[in-house]
Amino acid sequence: MRLNINSINVDYEDRSKGIPLLLIHGFPLHRGMWAPQIEGLAGAARLLAPDLRGFGKSDTPAGPYGMEDFARDLDGLLGSLKIDRAVLCGFSMGGYIAFAFHKLFAEKVAGMILLDTRAEADTEEGKKKRVEMANSVRQRGIEFAVEAMLPKLLGQVSQRYNPQLLHQVASMIRENKQAGLINAQHAMAARPDSLAYLPEIQCPVLIAVGDQDVLTPVPSSEAMASRIAKCELKIVRGAGHLASMEYPEQVNAAIRDYLKAI
Ligand code: MLT
Repeated sequence: MRLNINSINVDYEDRSKGIPLLLIHGFPLHRGMWAPQIEGLAGAARLLAPDLRGFGKSDTPAGPYGMEDFARDLDGLLGSLKIDRAVLCGFSMGGYIAFAFHKLFAEKVAGMILLDTRAEADTEEGKKKRVEMANSVRQRGIEFAVEAMLPKLLGQVSQRYNPQLLHQVASMIRENKQAGLINAQHAMAARPDSLAYLPEIQCPVLIAVGDQDVLTPVPSSEAMASRIAKCELKIVRGAGHLASMEYPEQVNAAIRDYLKAI
């Protein structure tokens, strides 16, 4: 499905019925990463999965983007669908966007699920690496993002024994646009720290993280959990960064339990 929001075409999936669950994908992926949740959580929630600006089949307006731009697009999507409140489920960059959304529209957030993400801003070194990656994608194309990100997205077990998942994730990265990835890298580098903001989050929160996550490691999730009033932390054993695709049964079970309790 497709809607015009903030003057861009936003492509999204809208499946099943129940409490609205807004699935916010990470970098350098698109909404296709949620296939295991769209299948496994059917009946547990209304599953809304947009392609963010610059990703998948949505438009790629000129940059720069900020986390607030992504958040305002999501708010526009909810508004167009006449949804007053939703549970936000953000994976990695999607989590950074969920924080931006909460800062802008706390009253519209019924709950938050934070998957393999973190609240800290980038270090100076981290920001530098993002600029380098953006420049390399500009010079060498999307294939650079595939080479650089694939080994970091999936854990050792998946890399060794799940060639199908490796192939699927690589294809997803290739389905994005160079400009979208460049704009998103700059947007992530500019994002503010959200650690100090976390005590403001009063809704129930589920955090899940792969114990082998090298991009947003377990201590980042522990740091978030210790600052959020109503929070449960689930560690997904054997998973890397993309725990929701690597071990969907475990992640979906945690999400189902969480949704039942809120
Ligand atoms: C993601 O998975 O969304 C990104 O790798 C997050 C990041 O680069 O900080």
